[in-house]
Amino acid sequence: MLREDSSKPLYEQIKEYILYKIQTGEFAPNTRLPSERNFAKQFGVSRLTVSKALKELIQAGRLYVQIGKGTYISEDSIDLQLETLTSFTEEMTDRQQNPTSRVLQAELVLADENIAHHLKLPIAVSVVLLRRVRLVNKRPIALEESSIVASICPNILTNHDFSQESLYAVLREKYNVMMTYAEQSFEARAATEKEAPYLEIATGNPVLSINRVTYTQDNKPFEYVKSVYRGDRYKFRAILRRI
Ligand code: GLP
Repeated sequence: MLREDSSKPLYEQIKEYILYKIQTGEFAPNTRLPSERNFAKQFGVSRLTVSKALKELIQAGRLYVQIGKGTYISEDSIDLQLETLTSFTEEMTDRQQNPTSRVLQAELVLADENIAHHLKLPIAVSVVLLRRVRLVNKRPIALEESSIVASICPNILTNHDFSQESLYAVLREKYNVMMTYAEQSFEARAATEKEAPYLEIATGNPVLSINRVTYTQDNKPFEYVKSVYRGDRYKFRAILRRI
């Protein structure tokens, strides 16, 4: 119950109450939170106080809103290993999550200077550009822009629908691409105005920007990927050995 005499504002106490219920499992991931009105009645406070508490928990990624339905409990952040070269689909299915994609752009373009540099190609050579929102259990988790050397996968865009298929599975199984290692860099930053709506977060919320170049077994880069992950949904884990 809330304590009027506490030095903690009432909305902070409501936040703590909700976080406690999440921690004990009473409020389970992806279930609906009681309504603002219910909380206000339960605690004998105004809806405005409840609304402030919910807003802060939404901003912190602990709750999310489904328009027209209500406020829901977020899932725990997804813990990813850093040492293995996996695809988004593999990472998520390994965790019994349901990955899907929304294709924003899928076309052949001419490599600009940056892409050409990373793929070790001459400028203006054809590359396959695939921009996707990656979702887990229907909620966006990352925005991914992949540039793939077009000559290794002729007609890939006419023959495959990447809202349904895994890029890595297609490259491996249909084009015999033997992917062996990747170089990846990470940077924490704020979501830009353009990215935020795709990730369903506010502009300025924390995101993890990851760039990857992936190589085939003969050390040739075939993929350059710029991705932006929601900061509240991802944790990376690596085992570091002393050498
Ligand atoms: C991960 C990698 C990307 C890769 C993608 C392929 O997200 N960081 O570099 O392009 O997986 O995903 P999928 O095979 O699920 O389409």
